[in-house]
Amino acid sequence: MEKPAILGGKPVREKPLPFVSIIFDDDEIQSSLIALKDRALASGVFIEKFEKEFANFIGTKYAVSVSNGTDGLFLAYLVLGLTFNKHVVTTPITFIATASTIVHTGAIPIFADVDFDGNISPESVAKVVKSGEVDGLSLVHLYGKPVEMDPILEIAEEYQIPIIEDASHAHGAEYKGKKVGSIGDIGVFSLYPTKVIAAGGWGGVITTNNREVYEKLLYLRAHGEERVKLGKAGAYTYIRLGYNLRMSNIEAAVAYHQLKKINKFIEARQKNAKLLTDLLSDVDGLILPTYPAYMKHIFYIYNVLIDENKIGWTRDKFVEALNAEGIPAERGYHTPLHKQPLFQRINDPNVNHFARIIKYPDYGKVKLPKAEEVAKRTIWLPVHPGLNEEDIESIAKAIVKLIEWKKGKS
Ligand SMILES: Cc1ncc(COP(=O)(O)O)c(C=O)c1O
Repeated sequence: MEKPAILGGKPVREKPLPFVSIIFDDDEIQSSLIALKDRALASGVFIEKFEKEFANFIGTKYAVSVSNGTDGLFLAYLVLGLTFNKHVVTTPITFIATASTIVHTGAIPIFADVDFDGNISPESVAKVVKSGEVDGLSLVHLYGKPVEMDPILEIAEEYQIPIIEDASHAHGAEYKGKKVGSIGDIGVFSLYPTKVIAAGGWGGVITTNNREVYEKLLYLRAHGEERVKLGKAGAYTYIRLGYNLRMSNIEAAVAYHQLKKINKFIEARQKNAKLLTDLLSDVDGLILPTYPAYMKHIFYIYNVLIDENKIGWTRDKFVEALNAEGIPAERGYHTPLHKQPLFQRINDPNVNHFARIIKYPDYGKVKLPKAEEVAKRTIWLPVHPGLNEEDIESIAKAIVKLIEWKKGKS
């Protein structure tokens, strides 16, 4: 039994592993140079090329590049009319942007509960939809695993509610042969540097099959200016309220080449995830990620639910102890959004200026037992393409070492 590094023992790894990696080569560097040399920074050939290829990859008619995933979500809600006093059902186990952008458009987030994999629960969504007025559904394909879409599509169809897929973790993930981001009304992807593919800085993409939505998005991301349709003849003529939420040509130059490598990146993630599952499957007290054969999980994050009683460590101490072993485990989304200080105080105009004109639910009273449990029991592990077999083995070794130590002490 080896002594944990957190108690003064020798760490499994002398050099800690990175939690994320950004993998690029000469293609991204050369194309950025081309974008610079062309002196077309704000617009240019890479933006169009990237959008075309991204739409092809996802299987939608249109892809609109934007400044980042957060702005993509904002525009998605806006373009679907999910604005003042509209209710949008979403998950409390996600990054803040999924829900804060609902608030940004003037709409009201309603949180549904999740399942043990962290994804929104179709039963909970159905319950919320049936019990009140719901105008939109915003789903997150969490950690790269698709949401169970069929029952959600059914309820959305019955109640005529649009679906926004936040696919920021899930570029290339599939549900029953369809890529996420092509299943609902609108898909939104983040190209933040740590995501499955990156842009050269910030970046995001919105996907849709709806021409009207597509055309509106072009205006919304570029000041509502007629230039979008008429070129120079439309310069400085503004036909609707718009924003400045475009991606730059340098960012697109990088994203364009990242996209060419996406299948390789995904295969590496899946291979690492499979190895980690093989190595940990006999360890008592861990619920490892699983998925049915009709889903393609692309493992943006490898999430594990722990049983503190069985492994002998509290979640937070376990994460700390893994970090001391050189393993970059994280607690992830440790507080569900409805429990966050922002939502507890959302009706205070000093916290949220919309509170002057909109009355939000008392999120303090919201009870979502699974989300609250998942948030307390989750740990995140890396399986990104920057890790090799030996790295993954060291992750499993550290986990087993810490659990064995506690067993030996009890
Ligand atoms: C689930 C989810 N939605 C939205 C976003 C926002 O994307 P961005 O950072 O590109 O604004 C993120 C980013 O981490 C995310 O994880």
